[in-house]
Amino acid sequence: MAQDPPRPHLRPSFWQSDGRAVPKTDDGLRYLIGGEIRTWTGETQEIRSCLAFAWNEGFVRPVLGPGAMLDADEAMAALEAAERAWDEGKGEWPTTTVAKRIEAMEAFVERMVAVRETVVERMMWEIGKTQADSYGEFDRTVQYIRDTIHELKDMERASARFAVEKNAFAQIRRSPFGPTLCMGPFNYPLNETFATLIPAVLMGNPVVSKLPRFGQLLNIPLLEAFRDCFPPGVVNIIAGKGTDIVTPIVRSGRVSMLAFIGNSRTADILKSQHPQPHRLRSVLSLDAKNPGIVLEDADLDVTIPQVLAGALSFNGQRCTALKMLFVHRSRRAEFLDRLCAALDDLKAGFPWQKGVRLTPVADPKAPEFLRDLIADARSFGAEVVNPGGGEVVENFVHPAVLYPVDDRMKVYHVEQFGPVIPVREFERIEEVMRYALESQFGQQVSLFGYDPAVLGPLIDHMVNQVSRVNLNTQCQRGPDTFPFTGRKASAEGTLSVRDALKRFSIRSLVATDYSPRNRDLVNDIVASRTSNFLSTDFLF
Ligand code: G3H
Repeated sequence: MAQDPPRPHLRPSFWQSDGRAVPKTDDGLRYLIGGEIRTWTGETQEIRSCLAFAWNEGFVRPVLGPGAMLDADEAMAALEAAERAWDEGKGEWPTTTVAKRIEAMEAFVERMVAVRETVVERMMWEIGKTQADSYGEFDRTVQYIRDTIHELKDMERASARFAVEKNAFAQIRRSPFGPTLCMGPFNYPLNETFATLIPAVLMGNPVVSKLPRFGQLLNIPLLEAFRDCFPPGVVNIIAGKGTDIVTPIVRSGRVSMLAFIGNSRTADILKSQHPQPHRLRSVLSLDAKNPGIVLEDADLDVTIPQVLAGALSFNGQRCTALKMLFVHRSRRAEFLDRLCAALDDLKAGFPWQKGVRLTPVADPKAPEFLRDLIADARSFGAEVVNPGGGEVVENFVHPAVLYPVDDRMKVYHVEQFGPVIPVREFERIEEVMRYALESQFGQQVSLFGYDPAVLGPLIDHMVNQVSRVNLNTQCQRGPDTFPFTGRKASAEGTLSVRDALKRFSIRSLVATDYSPRNRDLVNDIVASRTSNFLSTDFLF
């Protein structure tokens, strides 16, 4: 299909500054260890915006400020601070009541709300997320914390009573594991940093959190709130190169738990670095290659907007993005025409501009990676079927619809994590089932159609290949109360408001028999309030 005329946003002159001030800051030098906000004086990196502005004959990506590149000593200092807070399990935070932890978290969330505008502004400049989505990420995170508190109260109320069994009785609660390392990804630098940090801390685990590669600055305005609301060492925030600061922490064997949201290659490396990998409990949310399947009777009025949002929200930089489309032969021509037309209507620009849906990608290396994927597919006969698809202006990549895609092409197998939409035609549903079966990923699938005779068996097959089947909607993580997980290389453990609380804790119980002395003893401990664990206090 035609490549011309070029879209206006593919012309350098389109990317003119509209006068919005660059939020330059030295905040990237600050980090938090043991209740102290420190300023780094060692090696730094230059943090540049992913947004490029037309400048003279070329482009410039504005410098936002320096970013601390901490070293191994400082990373170990953060771990030691977490260990002091843990104090072999006797620390104030791991032994205090759930009510006290909730009180601290409620104070934190109030302080967090106060820095909303700064965080959102930096999110737009650092990773190019649209203003609406940046506010969405912030507000969703606040809601996630509030929902987590609500859920924990519920769990706590249930464990305030004793379990009685024959001649034994017990109080069963959940206890923390110990120092925990949390790492979030650049595509949700706030939300998915907090998605593990918050439940880990609420359950009593002191945390070392390594900030993502892109999205470091936006987390810094929260340091004061972390310092003021939690005891020293409960939350430690560090930044730098993974091999410099994460490797020594994991190699030390002194973290009990690893929470990592990112790619499976890094997860494998991290796990193998632990001296006793079987002791390292993990919660991992990794790569995915979610298929979208457009069946014979799909309603394209519903399907096209869902596919576009599924493939291109945040320019496809979501683990849940639709990354491979299968379209029934009878609908393929109509589908491609309508998809390309709808894509052509999407507005590109700076994240704060009204109605903008397409923005530059966060990683400056991504355009080249995507260009290679497209070139590889072309070498096997695929075409870019939308005008301007795959064209690059600095970090901006115009979305490319690739057709026909087949199993010889890299894009059929690897996660593109960017605005490339591979499409394959199918005749028999077994072809699509085989794709799901042979894929190394197993996160989600979207099915578009309405025939129960087709969908019923397909659902039954797919639920054993992936962890969520979406009917006539795009793949997604939310609502956060739903379980979010994956099979095969896509995840280990489940994240949801309730599941995360469970994942960062282990059931512990105090049990005894009904002998009068033991009954009296338990009553005495409860009445004298000498234990926070053995307690019947009701949490309101
Ligand atoms: O990048 C992976 C995220 O967990 C996707 O979350 O479906 O809410 O965009 P989302």
